[in-house]
Amino acid sequence: MKTSPFKVKYGPYALVAGGSDGLGAAFAEAIARRGLNLVLIARREDRLEAEAARLTETYGIDVIPLVADLADYEDVKRRIGALTVSIGLFVYNAAYAPIGPFESTSEDRLALAAAVNVKAPLLLTKLLSAPMIQRQRGGIVLMSSLAGAQGSPNLSAYAATKSFNAILAEGLWKELKPHGVDVLACCAGAILTPGYQQAQKAKTAPGTLEARVVAERTLQALGRGPIVIPGAVNRIARFLLTRLLTRKAAIGMMSKNTGGLS
Ligand SMILES: NC(=O)c1ccc[n+]([C@@H]2O[C@H](COP(=O)([O-])OP(=O)(O)OC[C@H]3O[C@@H](n4cnc5c(N)ncnc54)[C@H](OP(=O)(O)O)[C@@H]3O)[C@@H](O)[C@H]2O)c1
Repeated sequence: MKTSPFKVKYGPYALVAGGSDGLGAAFAEAIARRGLNLVLIARREDRLEAEAARLTETYGIDVIPLVADLADYEDVKRRIGALTVSIGLFVYNAAYAPIGPFESTSEDRLALAAAVNVKAPLLLTKLLSAPMIQRQRGGIVLMSSLAGAQGSPNLSAYAATKSFNAILAEGLWKELKPHGVDVLACCAGAILTPGYQQAQKAKTAPGTLEARVVAERTLQALGRGPIVIPGAVNRIARFLLTRLLTRKAAIGMMSKNTGGLS
């Protein structure tokens, strides 16, 4: 059987950081469907083992479950260093969102957001891009959010970390292109994941997408540009927020959605 161009470019293994549930599990499934083997990182061992076994059974691929907390970069680096497989695709999906008024958010929660949403994707990108550059092929996907396109009240720190990921991916998209490494930021709107459902409680935002749709659109966009915004409603919203409205108006509009979050 002929090997697909995706597998040739991004195989033989993909590492999904935060790959056992929600969007991360959808990324893992979409990658498995393309025939790549997987390394999946998450904290809950039972959920991770079950997902790894299911993907192996369904797609006949090798799946390495790696139980680790992405807030502890040194531990994650050590565990990845012990692997003997070659990683050609890296997806950073996990995030921590301290939701609610800044004045009542503890230093610990802010530090956790910085560790999981900034330090880990930045240093894992450094770690995993080095062998990709050497091989002159590979792919990196960093999860951002529409919340990161402007200030988002009551989500201020989370939104700032998501902005960091988008800007990092944009710069690296250009920088690593000559080395054959594709970098992409996914600026997603609302996605039906356990994390989102827990935060939103009852209401669902317009343009909310299923996780499998976001994962599929993102992988299809890899290699085509620095940024993907899955969903027409979300593309219109981003155009409005970043190009048509003043910054003040964009923050005010975002505040209508995020202002009441606690
Ligand atoms: N959901 C949305 O509406 C939405 C919108 C825009 C952007 N995004 C972005 O999309 C990504 C996924 O969002 P989500 O919150 O909805 O999550 P999710 O897809 O439900 O993924 C959470 C996954 O990450 C793992 N994880 C979380 N924290 C971890 C940690 N510290 N160490 C290791 N693994 C960890 C979880 O497993 P364990 O719990 O077992 O560790 C789980 O497998 C995030 O980057 C988010 O910013 C989401």
